[in-house]
Amino acid sequence: MTTQPTWIIETRELVKIYGENHAGVRALDRVNLRVSPGELLAVMGPSGSGKSTLLNIIGALDLPTSGQVLVNGEDLAQIKNLDEFRSKTVGFVFQLHNLLPTMTARENVEIPMIGHLSAAERKRRSEELLTLVGLGDRADHLPGQLSGGQRQRVAIARALANNPPIILADEPTGALDSVSGAELMQLLRELNQRQGVTVVVVTHDLGVARQTNRVVFMQDGRIIREDYIGTPLEEDLKLWAHSGLGQRILNGDKELLQTLGISEKESTALQKLLQSIKHEQTG
Ligand SMILES: Nc1ncnc2c1ncn2[C@@H]1O[C@H](COP(=O)(O)OP(=O)(O)OP(=O)(O)O)[C@@H](O)[C@H]1O
Ligand SMILES: [Mg+2]
Repeated sequence: MTTQPTWIIETRELVKIYGENHAGVRALDRVNLRVSPGELLAVMGPSGSGKSTLLNIIGALDLPTSGQVLVNGEDLAQIKNLDEFRSKTVGFVFQLHNLLPTMTARENVEIPMIGHLSAAERKRRSEELLTLVGLGDRADHLPGQLSGGQRQRVAIARALANNPPIILADEPTGALDSVSGAELMQLLRELNQRQGVTVVVVTHDLGVARQTNRVVFMQDGRIIREDYIGTPLEEDLKLWAHSGLGQRILNGDKELLQTLGISEKESTALQKLLQSIKHEQTG
């Protein structure tokens, strides 16, 4: 009997050292990350902070130096056939789409299905996926005949080929203009909301991060902070909780409260509200 895991992705004290142990680069330094099924998570942080390394290890493209990775309830160290695991469980989308230039959009999307589906089923499924990403009429185009945003959408269709529960996207909007980037993010959000696909997206773009449920910030191979992204109302409240005015109300600035004509009872209520907003953000 299998039980639904609480976390679809969990890393425990994950360490990755590239090169010789003593002189090597510590790309990941005891990373503990937990992702709930159906979450849309952004990973941010400066260049070299370990974002791609983390994504690659979660997707079994690379091995950790130490620590544990559990994906979809399975310990990656225990999996014999990692190729099969990857093709069933995770879909990758990279900054540069990695499409094969001599193959059409449909043929590119079919690649991960080879060995799993018959030729006729592959054709049907790839056309369905291309339609899903809004490219039903471009199936026979070569990557060179598509725009950057369209190529990235083909890459998403390919990532979805085997219906994986997880999509790992490493700066998928990095090479796109802002409009195509926003469209691509919209697509990832739809897949997340309608099909329940768990999405982890590495990004340098705060606009992209704001469209997720949670942002994890990395620095020097560690997770240093995380931020929950609320509804637009909650986001406005957060902004206000961190403003100078919010700060003064939190500090119980009597003069200010008097000037604003706020009673003691009202100010206590406001303080509680602001405190809970701030608490949620750091908790
Ligand atoms: N194959 C490798 N061999 C040696 N060092 C590596 C290798 N890959 C990454 N590194 C180092 O590990 C650290 C983390 O790299 P990583 O690619 O994960 O960063 P990143 O956060 O994705 O950066 P960026 O935003 O520039 O893509 C960096 O210091 C990098 O130089
Ligand atoms: Mg990177």
